[in-house]
Amino acid sequence: MGENCEGQCRQTQFAELDKVIEEYRGTPGALIPVLHKAQEIFGYLPEEVQYRISQGLGLPLADVYGVVTFYSRFTLVPKGKHDIGVCLGTACYVKGAGELVGWLDKELGLKPGGITRDGLFSLETTRCVGACGMAPVVTIGEEVKGRLTVEQFSEIIREYQQK
Ligand code: FES
Repeated sequence: MGENCEGQCRQTQFAELDKVIEEYRGTPGALIPVLHKAQEIFGYLPEEVQYRISQGLGLPLADVYGVVTFYSRFTLVPKGKHDIGVCLGTACYVKGAGELVGWLDKELGLKPGGITRDGLFSLETTRCVGACGMAPVVTIGEEVKGRLTVEQFSEIIREYQQK
């Protein structure tokens, strides 16, 4: 799935998406459920998928894109098994959040907006998440961690590599 799916695999995903579109065509409010199913099928919603949906449901591509970017549960980029969020707001940055991002790049080749080759981790940087007292703040999946040094962060990442 996701970015490692090409050729035949991709065709199968599109065939599955076409079935979903067929099922919902003509139904009012079809866009959100179709986007949900599409994200389940592809793991994310790249432009080619949005285009297929806009054609299939007879909606302008701008409308589809508008919904995808409005709801945080939809993603334009592939997500890893564990999605990491590092806050780069001022308080977090001052407390070393940039070093955590640098460590991910150096150790895992993981850059903001990217995913590791093994699909285990993806990384997003965020603006202030409103927990400056815990700076630097990192989320991994549903977990929130604060006041992390690079050493503590690297230990946490290694634990997740075993999960
Ligand atoms: S700057 Fe990171 S939580 Fe506020």
